[in-house]
Amino acid sequence: SYRAYEDHDYLFKLVLIGDSGVGKSNLLTRFSKNEFSLQSKPTIGVEFATRNIHVNNKIIKAQVWDTAGQERYVLLSIHFFSADFDLDFFDLASFEDLARKDLGPLFLGFSMYRAITNAYYRGALGALLVYDVTRHVTFESIKKWLKELRNHTDDNIVVMLVGNKSDLRHLRAISTEEGKAFAENENIYFMETSALESLNVENAFAEVLTQIY
Ligand code: GTP
Ligand code: MG
Repeated sequence: SYRAYEDHDYLFKLVLIGDSGVGKSNLLTRFSKNEFSLQSKPTIGVEFATRNIHVNNKIIKAQVWDTAGQERYVLLSIHFFSADFDLDFFDLASFEDLARKDLGPLFLGFSMYRAITNAYYRGALGALLVYDVTRHVTFESIKKWLKELRNHTDDNIVVMLVGNKSDLRHLRAISTEEGKAFAENENIYFMETSALESLNVENAFAEVLTQIY
């Protein structure tokens, strides 16, 4: 059988989502390589990393996808903007039609959003929805990310809300209780992490993988 040539029993795809700068990439490097960088650059496009972990004597290969919070947020905004105006672009007659209506850029943004988003979420069995405990705006965005996630994945996807940067105690803007309450309300898991101090990062990923399994 093929089994002898494979280094895992199961392959689970996970996605990281959340605003720019919340620490998605550092959570991933902490999990996959046990590395952290204070000067990491914003992610461009989509990246992924894998790591095998043991759950109940089985080897699970976690394939974790990471993307840019920034550009995705811009595209997401365009999407919501268009949704506000109740425009269905696929009902419009043609590209020229759009150009005439001066909606070209909007259409392009919308198409890019759709293409990237569909590919990103395809086949995902788990998601880590990340905010930064020191920046309230990143917590407010969670609703939008959750909505996007729900629109693109199966109902049974395992979702964990992650409050990252718990090491910055003096700068904290969202309490643990607030995060927990939101997660309970949305029926998703919750954990606070620090990629810097390597706190709960392993636990967060392992919990999602175990729940999928
Ligand atoms: P985008 O790729 O732009 O979406 O951002 P991101 O969510 O991947 O954030 P990234 O991992 O690049 O981290 C942004 C900044 O936050 C970097 O300067 C990191 O060093 C810092 N950072 C990430 N995690 C932590 C953490 O747990 N604690 C502290 N203090 N800083 C962190
Ligand atoms: Mg990143």
